[in-house]
Amino acid sequence: MNDYRPTKADRFSFGLWTVGWQGVDPFGVATREPMDPAYAVDKLAELGAYGVTFHDDDLIPFGADDTLRANRITSFRKALDNTGLVVPMATTNLFAHPVFKEGALTANDRDVRRFALRKILRNLDLAAELGATTYVLWGGREGSESAAAKDVAAALDRYKEALDLLCAYVREQGYDIRFALEPKPNEPRGDIFLPTIGHAIAFINELDEPDRVGLNPEVGHEQMAGMSVVHGYAQALWHGKLFHIDLNGQNGPRYDQDFRFGNGDVKSAFLLVDLLERGGYDGPRHFDFKPARTEGEDGVWSSARACMRNYLILAEKARAFRADPEVTEALAAARVDQLAVPTLGEGESLADLRAEEFDLAEASARGAGVEHLDQLALEHLYGIR
Ligand code: GCO
Ligand code: MN
Ligand code: MN
Repeated sequence: MNDYRPTKADRFSFGLWTVGWQGVDPFGVATREPMDPAYAVDKLAELGAYGVTFHDDDLIPFGADDTLRANRITSFRKALDNTGLVVPMATTNLFAHPVFKEGALTANDRDVRRFALRKILRNLDLAAELGATTYVLWGGREGSESAAAKDVAAALDRYKEALDLLCAYVREQGYDIRFALEPKPNEPRGDIFLPTIGHAIAFINELDEPDRVGLNPEVGHEQMAGMSVVHGYAQALWHGKLFHIDLNGQNGPRYDQDFRFGNGDVKSAFLLVDLLERGGYDGPRHFDFKPARTEGEDGVWSSARACMRNYLILAEKARAFRADPEVTEALAAARVDQLAVPTLGEGESLADLRAEEFDLAEASARGAGVEHLDQLALEHLYGIR
């Protein structure tokens, strides 16, 4: 019997800011004590994670002097060495400090943009030292509440300038690092730049080194925008841009809920795991969630454990779905496999295509077989098959 106990081979990773979230929201103060990063590493390893990720400020308090900085890094490294946890990804906090209130890489204030770049460069060096191969850029403050106060084209020029500089830096240093942009439609800004996977992919194509830049899409962020997260991740994969992922849960378009993975839109979670397990994504299964503010420390660990457990449960269900002979039949009846066949046959010309006889009435009358197939998917998810 599968006990859904994760191992390092499952490649689950967590941000320090997830289990370390103290529960501060726009209406209330912290409900939990700060968590020491080294302690978080120990606990995550105990639960079966393989990796831990961080913002510069999660590890080293903003404005720390050199001694504090060195101490924090040493104790983190010690915890990594003791547990064997790796650091697959790192990122920069360009949103919390008041200096970033009007933006960071796209702030109107040039001094702020220069400070933001310095902050990234410093943490990039640390990320490389700790072995990270992905560097995430989530532009939480890149945007506006009023388009009257922002020249969007100039902002995109500055965003591109920053990415081009960062790519060149990483290349010159010889770091084995790729950047991953994380789209989000809004929150904390009224409107954030690169709000969806599609916007971000289009932007990447304008960069000097597009191959070095991909995506870190978050489940809940696509759903906040009313998008299909499965389609979004699948398109990112199709473009070769799914560099990293933020798994969590969300109930439709509303504030960013950051539920533990598997909560919220359960059907999308199931079909997403099905996609990831079959679709050629081989990066970390990274959770970016917030243990509910209602919880004490035990609730933090039970929700972290549940993220991994839910992933493993859904992976098992997805495998069972794919192995079910009735599903194979239903897939064929729905002609799902036909979509992989090029529309024009080999050696065929458009003239051949135009000359083809077609029974319009018959093709129009055919059912697509979707309802039956979808019901089978639901029944696997409901656990009765
Ligand atoms: C959010 C974002 C962040 C980012 C993180 C990495 O709060 O909406 O998802 O959690 O993922 O800051 O840069
Ligand atoms: Mn989020
Ligand atoms: Mn995220």
